[in-house]
Amino acid sequence: MQFPDYRPRRMRQSEAFRRMIRETVLTTDDLILPLFAVGGKKVKEPIASMPGQFHLSSDHLTTVCKQAADAGIPAVILFGIPEKKDPLGTGAYAKDGTVQRAVKAVKDAVPDLSVITDVCLCQYTDHGHCGMLDGQIIDNDATLDLLARTAVSHAEAGADMVAPSDMMDGRVAEIREALDEGGFERVPIMSYAAKYCSAYYGPFREAADSAPKFGDRRTYQMDPANAEEAVREATLDIEEGADIIMVKPALAYLDVIYRIRQEFDLPVAAYNVSGEYAMIKAAEQMGWLDGQKVMMETLTAIKRAGADMILTYFALEAAKALGR
Ligand code: PBG
Ligand code: ZN
Repeated sequence: MQFPDYRPRRMRQSEAFRRMIRETVLTTDDLILPLFAVGGKKVKEPIASMPGQFHLSSDHLTTVCKQAADAGIPAVILFGIPEKKDPLGTGAYAKDGTVQRAVKAVKDAVPDLSVITDVCLCQYTDHGHCGMLDGQIIDNDATLDLLARTAVSHAEAGADMVAPSDMMDGRVAEIREALDEGGFERVPIMSYAAKYCSAYYGPFREAADSAPKFGDRRTYQMDPANAEEAVREATLDIEEGADIIMVKPALAYLDVIYRIRQEFDLPVAAYNVSGEYAMIKAAEQMGWLDGQKVMMETLTAIKRAGADMILTYFALEAAKALGR
């Protein structure tokens, strides 16, 4: 195939031709909308660093969830912001905790929408780490039981899927066992398998008030320099019973998404995180780029890299752009 016999431009000359040879087609089915649940009533508090995102009490949360379902979005992922924090993050596994109540409210109001819950302790611990402490050390094995209790409490509240984001070793197996013992063998685990220690989580930590009070997350989240290790992490999670494996963040890790897609036959999720959202929104507000176009290009790129589903704060906007 050589010029002038082959001319790639031939197949680009009309929208019809371009559609015929398009390799990647983003659909609303690919999108998962992350939402921040708080207690109280009639709360719809904007998150400064994430324009268009809010802290939502259950009444407003169910309204947004209805919009998501009407737009054709198959699932939301809920994060809870509790009123009180303590060293053991007890709010994470409280029967009437923020997320547990939010899940019930959403499942009652919009039963067909799948509700995924983020399973972690960092929003609930007063020190802001994803596990419990032994002095200054994050105690891996002692944390596993708390994570398992958290996952089971979410399932009891009606969660359709749980997504552990803590990066403790062995947590998928522990959660799988606890779910099965609790009669929730039907509840899948979407594991944050390759979760990097990323500065792109900045806006989220502000939104969820979950920044660590000392140190950082480098002893449990992955080094951004490593990709082979992502394959090992995913291997472990799959052996422990993960149903979906996630790479997070997405944009600076498209190569990791691609590799994980090539290596494994399980569904792959990618998390288009808060900082990735904030950068596009900020540039759009400055008038420096076309936010809508960059959004669609970005989401298409994440899918092209190999993601079967994308957790993204753009989900509602993208669903609108895609039409129905
Ligand atoms: C908590 C958690 C984080 C995110 C999802 N779950 C933050 C962190 O690890 O500090 C980040 C999401 C985002 O930035 O959009 N374990
Ligand atoms: Zn955490």
